[in-house]
Amino acid sequence: MKKLSIIAVLAAGAVIVSCSDVKRKPGSIYMPDMAYSRAYETYADHSNLKEQGINYTNMPVAGTIARGEEVPFPIAMDKPGDTVNYVASKKVPNPVAALTAAEYKEAERQYLINCGICHGTKLDGNGPLWKDGEGPYPAAPKNLINDPIVGNMPEGQMMYSLTYGKNTMGSYASQLNRKQRWQIIHYIKMKQAEAKGGKLPLADEAPAAMDSSATAKK
Ligand code: HEC
Repeated sequence: MKKLSIIAVLAAGAVIVSCSDVKRKPGSIYMPDMAYSRAYETYADHSNLKEQGINYTNMPVAGTIARGEEVPFPIAMDKPGDTVNYVASKKVPNPVAALTAAEYKEAERQYLINCGICHGTKLDGNGPLWKDGEGPYPAAPKNLINDPIVGNMPEGQMMYSLTYGKNTMGSYASQLNRKQRWQIIHYIKMKQAEAKGGKLPLADEAPAAMDSSATAKK
């Protein structure tokens, strides 16, 4: 009994001591950023993150290139009402090599996914969204084969319009990376040549004339 009361007194003493208001140093935390995520509120003003020493969600360092954007297109978007860069884009050559048979297939697939709905499977500007003016789209998509301007449009200028949009046609820069856009332009150029009775060869296609002369010599 005596023992029990001693234990009770000690326990009560321990409780009283542990409730003291003396502030002790808290234990240190290893990698606090991992223990506590930074509170991030969706619509909060994050403009001063840098002053707080927080460096993520910054804009990329100038000169860095996003994945899939290694292929150049050096022309910036025109200021509203201006066409200087649009005109200058005519001089930019297509930096992507001629399509191989597999790339041609892929460019065609991407064209049909992204462009065919307006410009049509035949590139005649009569896709299901337009359909001779009866479809829901308010503006006639250009005939990419027969339009007097677009039918002969330099590749760099097509790239300008695919990158920044043209009137009612939006930009395709977020759906297709630069290489894909240049490859679709190769595809359009091949279709334009075909419509004129010519042919742009595929990169991995042996030129027909050389083949026959080689076999003839044997
Ligand atoms: C939602 C419908 C729509 C889609 C999808 C669309 N276009 Fe267009 N496109 C248009 C219209 C409308 C115009 C005519 C714009 C104008 O000049 O008023 C146009 C114009 C163009 C031109 C001429 C641009 C110029 O500078 O005059 C090209 C080239 C072109 N489109 C290619 C494409 C390619 C390639 C794709 C797919 C990546 C595509 N378009 C997707 C509607 C569309």
